Amino acid sequence: MCGIVGYIGKHKASSILLEGLKRLEYRGYDSAGLAVLQEGRIDLVKKVGRVENLIRESAKHSFPGHVGICHTRWATHGGVTDANAHPHLSSDGKIVLVHNGVIENYTSMKKFLLSKDYSFKSETDTEVLGNLIAYHYAKEAVSDKTNRFFESVRKALLHVEGTYGIAVMCVDQPEQLVAARKGSPLLLGMGDEEFILASDASALVSRTRNVVYLKDNELVQLTPTDFSISTIDQAEVSPVVDKITWSIKDAELNGYAHFMEKEIFEQPASLENAMRGRFSEDGSTAQFGGLNLTAADLRMIDRYVFCSCGTAWHACLVAEHLIERFARLPVEVDYASEFRYRNAPLDRDVLFFVVSQSGETIDTLAALREAKRKGYKVMAICNVVGSTIARESDGGVYQHAGPEIGVASTKAFTSQLMLVAMYALYVARMRDMSFNDGLSYVQGLKQAPDLVRKILEQAPHIKEIASRYSQYSDFLFLGRLSLFPIALEGALKLKEISYIHAEGYPAAEMKHGPIALVNELCPSVFFVPKGEIFNKIVSSMQEIKARKGKIIAIVTEGCELPPDLADDIIRIPDCHEAVLPILGCIPVQLLSYYIAVKRGCDVDKPRNLAKSVTVE
Ligand code: G6P
Repeated sequence: MCGIVGYIGKHKASSILLEGLKRLEYRGYDSAGLAVLQEGRIDLVKKVGRVENLIRESAKHSFPGHVGICHTRWATHGGVTDANAHPHLSSDGKIVLVHNGVIENYTSMKKFLLSKDYSFKSETDTEVLGNLIAYHYAKEAVSDKTNRFFESVRKALLHVEGTYGIAVMCVDQPEQLVAARKGSPLLLGMGDEEFILASDASALVSRTRNVVYLKDNELVQLTPTDFSISTIDQAEVSPVVDKITWSIKDAELNGYAHFMEKEIFEQPASLENAMRGRFSEDGSTAQFGGLNLTAADLRMIDRYVFCSCGTAWHACLVAEHLIERFARLPVEVDYASEFRYRNAPLDRDVLFFVVSQSGETIDTLAALREAKRKGYKVMAICNVVGSTIARESDGGVYQHAGPEIGVASTKAFTSQLMLVAMYALYVARMRDMSFNDGLSYVQGLKQAPDLVRKILEQAPHIKEIASRYSQYSDFLFLGRLSLFPIALEGALKLKEISYIHAEGYPAAEMKHGPIALVNELCPSVFFVPKGEIFNKIVSSMQEIKARKGKIIAIVTEGCELPPDLADDIIRIPDCHEAVLPILGCIPVQLLSYYIAVKRGCDVDKPRNLAKSVTVE
C-alpha cells in the first residue's frame, strides 16, 4: 500500500526512480510524484492518476540530479488530489519526503506546528511529518551538529505514533538521503556505486540483487558512496546483506496481456516450486525445514489457529478442512483483524499459523504479534522472502511462487493451498494416517501441476463462457466442504476485478437466503465434485434451475449431470481429495479474468484495491 523508491548514486536519478515506481504501481495508483535534488533546489512533480501520468509530466522537465525520491499513493488521509500526492515539501522549503503508512498522532503535531508558523498545503499526515522534520532541522542549527539533517529526521520520528516507511531529502544536503521504517516495508539495494531504496524488491531488482531488509525502528543514512544503519535510539546496526533469488524477467509480462493472466498460467510451476524438496525420502509424508519445531513439539499440539486476510484467509479455511479431515485436529480460522481485537480465549497447546503472500499485511502482522505476546509460537506461510511476517514468525514455510504482481492473488493462493495440504499430510502422518495412505496422498499432490495444466488447456472454452456471462451484475458461487472456501474465493475474484456483485456460499445453505436473489439475471457457479455429496449438490442445482437461474457447473470428469441442468459445464480432472481445492480454483480464476477483460476492466489494478495492505 503506497510504493516508495529512493535513489542516490552516480546516475541521473529520475529515470531509475520512475522505472522502479512503475513496478510498484500495484501497491497503489491514486496519484504519483517525484522529487529530485539539484544544486540547492528541489525539482518536484506530482500528478493524480497512474504513474504513466507522472512519467508524461516529468518528460517536460530535465531533472539532472543524482539524488531523488518518488511515490505512488493509495490514499488514506485526504482525497485523491495533486496537492495530497507525495512527495511533500515542508513549508520552509527545506525538507521533502515520501511516506508509506499512517501517522496516527498527526493532528496534535499539526496543531503544534501551526503554532510555530509552519503551514500546510495538503490534508495528509505525511506533510505534517515533513514539517516536523523541518522544525527539528531548524532547531538543530542552534546546536550546530554536523549530522544535522539525519538527527532532525531521527528526532522527529521519536514523536511519531503509527507506521512509516519514509525516504527524506534536505535541500541543504545534496549528497544525502535518509530513510527509516516502522511497520511499513523498506529495502536498501546496493548497486554499483549507487543505492536504491524501495518498498519491495521488484523496484530495484533490475539494478541489484543485494539487499538489506530494514527492520522496524531503523534509520539508514546514505551518501553516493556509503551507508550506515542505526536504530532510532542511536544503536549502530551491522547490516545483513541478502540476495534476491529471482530476476527482473520474473516480474515482467513476457508476452501476456496482464500479470493476472501470466500468474494464472504460471501455476503448474509455482505448485512444483511449493513442493520441491519437501517430501520425505520414503515418499509417504511432507517435510519442512523452516518450522523450527520437532516432531515431539508437534505431538504436543492439540489445536490450531489460522489467521490472515483476503484471499489468504480462504487458504486458511482450506487448511481447516484438510487438517481436521486428515490429521483429526481441531482448527480455528479467524480474520486477522478480528482476532487482534476480540481477545480470543485460547487453549494451552495451540499452534498459531498466519498466511500472507506479501508478508506485510498489517492486520496479519498485528495478529502474529498478539499471538506471540500471549506466548504462542507462530508459524508463517509467506511468499515474499525477508518480509516482516516471515522475519517475526518463529518458523514457517516460504511459498517460492515468485513475484506476484497482479493485485488479485492467483498463483500465490494455489501455492498456499498446496502448502496447507502438505502440512495436513505432515501432521496426519504423525498421527493416524498409514504409510500407504501417505504414499497415495503424496502421489496425488505430485500430480497437481499436470492436472492444473489440463484445466488451463480449457482456457478458450472458459473464455467463450465468460463472454456470454460478462453482462450480468450478480453471481452466486456455491460449493461444499473443501470447495466452499473456493466458492468464496471465486466470488472474491469476480468482484475484485470485474466489479460484479458476487457471493460465495455453502451450496446447501444457499436456500436460507441467497436463493431470494435467484432469477434469470443471477447466474450460479456450482462446484460439483465426484463423491458422497454429488447428489446433494445436484439437488441444490435443481432448486436454482426451478427458479430460472442459469448454472455454470464445474464438474469432475466422468460424473454425469442430469440433462439440461447446467447451462455450461467446465470439467476438472479426478484427483486426490487434498488437491481438489487447487483444481477447483483454476476455472473460477479464468472465468473472472475473462469476464473482467470483456468488461474492459483494468484487471491488474482494480479500483480502490492495493496488493499489499499496510494500513489497518
Ligand atoms: C489485499 C490483496 C488481496 C490479498 C490480501 C491479503 O487485500 O488485494 O489479494 O489476499 O490483501 O494479502 P497477503 O499479502 O497478506 O496475502
